[in-house]
Amino acid sequence: MSDTHEIRISTLEKSTSCSDDQPVLESFLREGIWLPHSCTQGTCGTCKMKVLEGEIDHRDSSEYTLTPEERDAGIALGCQATPRSSLVLEPVEQLDPDDGVVRHPLKDVTGTVVTLDDIARDIRRLVVELDEPMNFNAGQYAEIKVPGTDVTRQYSMANPPSQTDRLEFHIKRTPGGIATDGWMFREMQRGDRVELKGPLGDFGMNTPQEEPAILIAGGTGLAPLKSIVQHALADELAPQLYLYQGGRTRQDLYDTEFFHRLEQQHEQFTYRPCLSEQEWDGATGMVTDAVLEDFTSCKGLSAYLCGPPPMVEAGVKALKRRRMAPRKIFREEFLDASHTAAAVS
Ligand SMILES: Cc1cc2nc3c(=O)[nH]c(=O)nc-3n(C[C@H](O)[C@H](O)[C@H](O)COP(=O)(O)OP(=O)(O)OC[C@H]3O[C@@H](n4cnc5c(N)ncnc54)[C@H](O)[C@@H]3O)c2cc1C
Ligand code: FES
Repeated sequence: MSDTHEIRISTLEKSTSCSDDQPVLESFLREGIWLPHSCTQGTCGTCKMKVLEGEIDHRDSSEYTLTPEERDAGIALGCQATPRSSLVLEPVEQLDPDDGVVRHPLKDVTGTVVTLDDIARDIRRLVVELDEPMNFNAGQYAEIKVPGTDVTRQYSMANPPSQTDRLEFHIKRTPGGIATDGWMFREMQRGDRVELKGPLGDFGMNTPQEEPAILIAGGTGLAPLKSIVQHALADELAPQLYLYQGGRTRQDLYDTEFFHRLEQQHEQFTYRPCLSEQEWDGATGMVTDAVLEDFTSCKGLSAYLCGPPPMVEAGVKALKRRRMAPRKIFREEFLDASHTAAAVS
């Protein structure tokens, strides 16, 4: 049987109880107390906390994400560390409780697969009808449990947050991958029951902004950006949105008609699909090069990038070269088990 411990954030008036097999970050998120985090798999380091009082178990925290010097200085990864006693903690990344963003408590939900369609090369659209609604912010993700295992994987919601009872996901097959190749592309069928946990993550455009935004998607990195675009247009969050979608050939693009229609309906939305390995009547080359071609300066703009880490890295470099302020660049990287393994070893 597990013990529970009281844990408190020094800068907040709130405390929560956490069992000794539960990551401390999760216990706060379940209470609706938001703390900085991104990947929840021990790879990004966004959730670092200083342990001011008490004892924690670092569990699988890697030296790659949490250096021995940081451990010695009493720093822990909130998404990995579990309590061994009552704790007083302080997030390393600064907390702004008045940032105007409404955060939704993390919860477990179940649902039924109602759509499972092949929409591009090795990409499926999965829609899960939930038994009870799950509130989330555009850009956030859920963890989906692989049946019969303890394995969970992160997938970003692609539907707008106004739709809380049917979650849309875009799933890319990873050859040999446990969740995708072993389940979602093999055994999963309409009518199957699914267990999820959400919402998680801090990627998104949650409050109105004065500057135009460039959104860059690689592969299924389109999912959170589809949610953000729909939400931002409905709530008029930005004066102009430029969405870039990258693929190798036409077979990799999906939802193009959806975005072309959106472009016709909204003057403030521009859509630019881009192919790196096929000539066609649209943009060609790497998606980040298409952005560089269109913008001689990115000063005074913001950007939201999502997809495989090399694409996100290239995009950030390109935007900085065009003088975009680093604090205006928001990114979500689809890190997988190979990155986690590299971090743990
Ligand atoms: C915040 C976030 C949001 C995401 N959103 C999406 C999304 O919307 N859509 C989407 O398609 N994906 C998304 N992902 C990626 C997704 O969570 C999975 O990582 C991906 O689907 C692969 O899962 P899998 O179980 O099929 O593969 P895994 O079994 O996790 O394998 C992935 C790769 O790692 C390798 N590997 C596995 N174990 C090891 C090891 N021990 N050492 C070295 N290599 C190893 C495998 O060979 C394979 O190449 C997201 C990831 C994050 C972090
Ligand atoms: S959220 Fe903890 S390491 Fe990424």
